[in-house]
Amino acid sequence: MTMRTDDSIYNKEFDDCRELIENKLDSYFTGQYSYGKLLEAMRYSLLAGGKRIRAVLCIKFCEAAGGNFEKALNAACAIEMLHAYSLIHDDLPAMDDDDLRRGKPSNHIAYGEATAILAGDALQAAAFDALLASELPADTIVEMGKIFAKAAGPHGICGGQLLDLENEGIQIELEQLEEINKYKTAQLISASAIMGVIAAGGTKAQIEAAQEYALSLGLAFQIRDDLLDYIADEKELGKPLLSDKNSNKTTYASLLDLDSCNEIIAKQTKKAVDAIESEFGEIGFLSWLAYMLAERTS
Ligand code: IPE
Ligand code: IPE
Ligand code: MG
Ligand code: MG
Ligand code: MG
Repeated sequence: MTMRTDDSIYNKEFDDCRELIENKLDSYFTGQYSYGKLLEAMRYSLLAGGKRIRAVLCIKFCEAAGGNFEKALNAACAIEMLHAYSLIHDDLPAMDDDDLRRGKPSNHIAYGEATAILAGDALQAAAFDALLASELPADTIVEMGKIFAKAAGPHGICGGQLLDLENEGIQIELEQLEEINKYKTAQLISASAIMGVIAAGGTKAQIEAAQEYALSLGLAFQIRDDLLDYIADEKELGKPLLSDKNSNKTTYASLLDLDSCNEIIAKQTKKAVDAIESEFGEIGFLSWLAYMLAERTS
């Protein structure tokens, strides 16, 4: 089988999985209420596109550990809700102050700052609600919920985002940058993979392998994101170019040249793929995904 054939097979698998996720996401926050504007703002960001890689990881790790995708579908939606909240808040004037997200005006530009803050808050609460509605044994949901809460809170996105903002205007070392990226980005990606394995009733060794894969992939993912801030096509990226540069953020792309960034991305990607080789039977898609994300242009 040539690389090209693999590519089109896995691309289709990726698209099929995303379609399942999009359809389920579209079923949330409908109905007529006096606070309908809040639901509209939530849906605006939740359904604005996005690669859905965290949700796809959750579902594909569930399948790799022997589970049916339906076991992980609620968790996958929960993760996308939490991710959408994090992006709404990330774009606020008090944070990265970005006006464009997923090719559309950022939530606070479309709905105003107060509604954007509330839409983010509500998406975060709704994320836990969606996870709790999973048709899984209660202790499985509790185990997933603990991982999810950790990735969202001070030891995950919130802690990482604080460190990221404190880093504006000052020079920091690669080591500190890796720590920031671990918290603000890699923890949620790792939680996505782990929750998929737990949903399937996977083994402890599989959970550990999924975590190692996703932490490495998450670090590579953020470095690629930092690079794209400099080298992407704005229309394709759907976010403003040079956002990090204009806020004087130290990133991998400000500290290192293109080749050095790509070397680290390649190293982390290989580490990710190596981590899952012995614990899961079928890793074709998950390997392809890691290599595809290393070269993504949006
Ligand atoms: C953007 O994440 C935020 C980062 C952690 C780099 P994605 O690149 O996954 O954003 P969407 O969901 O595809 O828009
Ligand atoms: C990741 O970092 C943001 C979150 C954890 C939400 P960035 O600030 O670089 O993400 P983008 O580039 O705005 O998507
Ligand atoms: Mg940010
Ligand atoms: Mg940002
Ligand atoms: Mg960025």
